[in-house]
Amino acid sequence: MSDFGRTPDVHGDAQLRGVRLTSDTPELEPHRIVRLEDDAVVVLDQRRLPEDEVDLRCRSAAEVAEAIRTLAVRGAPAIGVAAAYGMALAAERGDDLDVAFEALASSRPTAVNLRWALETMRDEPTRARAERIHADQVDRCRAMGGHAVELFPADARVLTHCNAGGLATGGYGTALGAIRAAWEAGRVEHVWVDETRPLLQGARLTAWELEQLGIPHAVIADAAAASFMARGEVDLVVTGADRIAANGDTANKVGTYGLAVAARHHGLPLVVVAPTSTLDPRAAAGDDIPIEEREPAEVTGRFGARNPAFDVTPGALVAAIVTERGIHRAPYTETLPRGTAAVR
Ligand code: MRU
Repeated sequence: MSDFGRTPDVHGDAQLRGVRLTSDTPELEPHRIVRLEDDAVVVLDQRRLPEDEVDLRCRSAAEVAEAIRTLAVRGAPAIGVAAAYGMALAAERGDDLDVAFEALASSRPTAVNLRWALETMRDEPTRARAERIHADQVDRCRAMGGHAVELFPADARVLTHCNAGGLATGGYGTALGAIRAAWEAGRVEHVWVDETRPLLQGARLTAWELEQLGIPHAVIADAAAASFMARGEVDLVVTGADRIAANGDTANKVGTYGLAVAARHHGLPLVVVAPTSTLDPRAAAGDDIPIEEREPAEVTGRFGARNPAFDVTPGALVAAIVTERGIHRAPYTETLPRGTAAVR
């Protein structure tokens, strides 16, 4: 039986500032998505959703790294949060923290939040610090949602890709958080959910979250997105990001670039919603962002295949980037916040 929405009995709840831990709404609670218990980092296993709501217990940093690598927990901010809890667990177990750091940092290469969270944990690898990172990510999502609302026209028909909801951030969501805030402001009519090949984060996870939130939606094949735009059935495209270079070039789930090209052709805005912890000041442009290449078997086990998990959308195709600091527009080298914001 599902225990969705229950308040887990965990340590450190009091440190989740600004995060509701009990719910009278169907919202995914932050500690339901990822939490640190006495002897394990526990994640809601996203590989099993939406059919099964089951926890995966990771009893070491190596097991957390494996959960990240295999997408039991996924999405840029969420893997940073899981890694932070993994470091706290390693410290409490008396494990070698350099080994734990490297195992976690190397689990996935593209999302800069992962390394950001690990660097943030370096000086104080405690559960209190990890809880602060978690709470901070959720706070940032809520702030981004508030800023993004004005970018939604009345009765917006929104198209989104992959999953950038609470599952991907440890609570509330980036792109889906913005959609949710706009829905609550009465500005959203409908959400088109790209199914997101090959692992169906849209069809499995985003659709599930929208269903929980009661927001009208329909899943479409990725290849159908351009024709929905051509028929005038899309008003804007909203996505998250895994890493944003200083010039606004944005790495996100593969297929985002194609959506951006199609959106530009049809005169539609593509809005990226991501916290400043997703900005990489060391990447001048998209070419500096490492793109994860995953197992070809995720695409097909029968034939030869290539499986880049992300692509880079040039900043020139991004109408606006929304961070917790506000709405940023081109030229991004001048308007994006400099440096990566520390946990508050
Ligand atoms: O491979 P995934 O599922 O981790 O990819 C996730 C994405 O591309 C998301 O859009 C991105 O991390 C933003 S999540 C807030």
